[in-house]
Amino acid sequence: MGVSACWKFSLKKYRDEFFMGTEKCLSSKGTKKAGQDLHIHNSNEENTMMKKCARVLAVTGLIVAGTSLSVNAAGADMQAQIDGIMGALPKFAVPMREVGDRFQNMYFAAEGGNWALASYMSKYMDKAMNPAKVTKPKEYPDWRSFYEGDFAAVNKAIAAEDLGTFKKEYSAVIASCNDCHAGMGYGFIEVKKLAAPADQGIEYKLSSKAADVPK
Ligand code: HEC
Repeated sequence: MGVSACWKFSLKKYRDEFFMGTEKCLSSKGTKKAGQDLHIHNSNEENTMMKKCARVLAVTGLIVAGTSLSVNAAGADMQAQIDGIMGALPKFAVPMREVGDRFQNMYFAAEGGNWALASYMSKYMDKAMNPAKVTKPKEYPDWRSFYEGDFAAVNKAIAAEDLGTFKKEYSAVIASCNDCHAGMGYGFIEVKKLAAPADQGIEYKLSSKAADVPK
């Protein structure tokens, strides 16, 4: 017997009892006798039905319990997937390669009068570090305070398109890059200024305004 059959049985039983009550009520007024034209299951039949129902309910209970178990299993599976994605996201080393290259490129863009390119290089030097917000939540704030602190003077010179100040601030900030490296146990990674941009495939000598970078 399926669950719906069980429901029908219960409803039928309820209805029968209801009618029987009505019949009893009517019969007390002398019009009809209790159970006269009602089909009432014999008690054996009812017992078997009840047992079947109990079994159906027990099985339903198991299904419900099983479902919540598989929901838990799905939760664990999802956690494993999240851990996998987290493991595949870059930490510091990969974005730092981009930081290094963009930092070098920015100098030649400024020197070439391509201020939008210099501004763009700075913007994405910073954005390259975004995965570290998730993968290195303890260390990321150090990057944030570096970019908004020591590096702000470089950004200000780019916005002002002031090459003299830019060159001065750019050289000075290299020490801050290296301070952080040393502070995090990477004193052997020492940034130095290159004689040519890291990326050769961009025109650096192109006149542009710092404000030309799309928002
Ligand atoms: C918040 C600290 C911090 C600051 C600020 C910082 N770095 Fe780094 N950098 C690191 C760490 C940590 C590593 C080593 C990466 C690792 O092993 O996870 C690194 C590695 C590097 C590397 C080597 C990447 C590679 O694997 O090839 C370069 C290049 C680099 N940084 C450039 C720079 C430049 C340029 C600046 C300044 C504009 C800078 N970094 C500022 C923390 C910093």
